[in-house]
Amino acid sequence: MAAMSDRTNNPLFNSNKLKLGTFCSNTIPNMTRVPEQWRPTWANCLAAAQLADNAGWEALVPIARWKGYLDGKPDHPSNEVLDVFAWAAGIAQATRHSAVFATSHAPTVHPIIVAKQSATIDAISNGRFALNVVGGWNRREFDMFGIELMEHDRRYTYLAEWVETLRKLWTHPGEFDQDSEFFHMKGAISRPQPVQKGGVPIMNAALSPVGIRFSAKHSDIGLTTPHGNNLDEWRLQVDAYKKMAREEFGRDIKIWTNVAVVQRETQKEAEDYLRRYSEEWMDVEVLDSLMSTISKENNIPMGSPQLAFMRTRMAVGAGYPLVGTAQKLAEDLEAISKAGIDGVIMTWVDYIDGLNRFNRDVLPLLEQAGLRKPFSKTA
Ligand SMILES: Cc1cc2nc3c(=O)[nH]c(=O)nc-3n(C[C@H](O)[C@H](O)[C@H](O)COP(=O)(O)O)c2cc1C
Repeated sequence: MAAMSDRTNNPLFNSNKLKLGTFCSNTIPNMTRVPEQWRPTWANCLAAAQLADNAGWEALVPIARWKGYLDGKPDHPSNEVLDVFAWAAGIAQATRHSAVFATSHAPTVHPIIVAKQSATIDAISNGRFALNVVGGWNRREFDMFGIELMEHDRRYTYLAEWVETLRKLWTHPGEFDQDSEFFHMKGAISRPQPVQKGGVPIMNAALSPVGIRFSAKHSDIGLTTPHGNNLDEWRLQVDAYKKMAREEFGRDIKIWTNVAVVQRETQKEAEDYLRRYSEEWMDVEVLDSLMSTISKENNIPMGSPQLAFMRTRMAVGAGYPLVGTAQKLAEDLEAISKAGIDGVIMTWVDYIDGLNRFNRDVLPLLEQAGLRKPFSKTA
């Protein structure tokens, strides 16, 4: 099993049954033009991170994106994304508890660079850094770099070698040479190595069978969106994921998912607000463009139920919609936990309002349900 014992300052592996995180605060998470839409300014990112950190949330996860989803529209908000490593370094310095993530588009960056950046942020955070590794899929980003977006499954062949090289840089006692399919390195070394012995925890966001297999073999946390809206049906998918990791690769993987949150005093208010931003103010132009990109680059046919499902999800904010009163949110989170999910990362239209409401009204219910322990800053 993967060794977690040297990660004592990292809350990702604490005893809370359901871990909580924020997701995407470094950009605009929803496909909406609603006027009160989130702005990913540094002040906003910092305020959101500190609200989560002070309440004992386990994870602060940004999204890695070099360019948005519309061609020839430089002012479109999907272009506006703060750099993930610089973001993580700043957030690490300004927080005390939460694990701080960055996300690496492996094909755009050499493992030597990421090894050193990760070890540096692990030092700043005193062992609270974690890394989401992704193979990329948005051709516009690759065109900007002038590099090839590999065929879907080959991205994961590359990613496997990239992650193995990264881990070696984090752990190898001396210099090493490597002459593998993708990397040709002489006298490779990266010092300091991370505070977390054995390297920082790795997350991978994948949806396809090949991606999930990669994740089961190489990552500590699989970040995924189980198919369908029926939480009872999630259990089978999550169990199969964990079983593959355990039986084929001898690894104890955790499975996390992302959700879009609308919390209000009444169910009707929450549903009205969901309709306001995701239907009345839906950004149809960017959704159309995004769906066509996803279809092309991930081999999902246009007009397929899978793509239609993704479109609805993306309009709301990526992931399962958590919509309603604090009580309803707590019940949904309990059902998600019963489906075997170990952690949930959240987006809102307004992170500050969302986190304040959640910390005040939902956290106590999760504690009552036994999903989390009350947080003490000195613990
Ligand atoms: C929750 C979640 C977060 C993701 N974060 C990123 C990201 O930050 N940057 C990125 O380029 N892709 C990101 N992805 C895309 C995935 O890495 C992957 O390309 C996509 O889900 C398709 O899965 P597949 O490669 O298994 O087909 C994310 C996906 C999910 C589900």
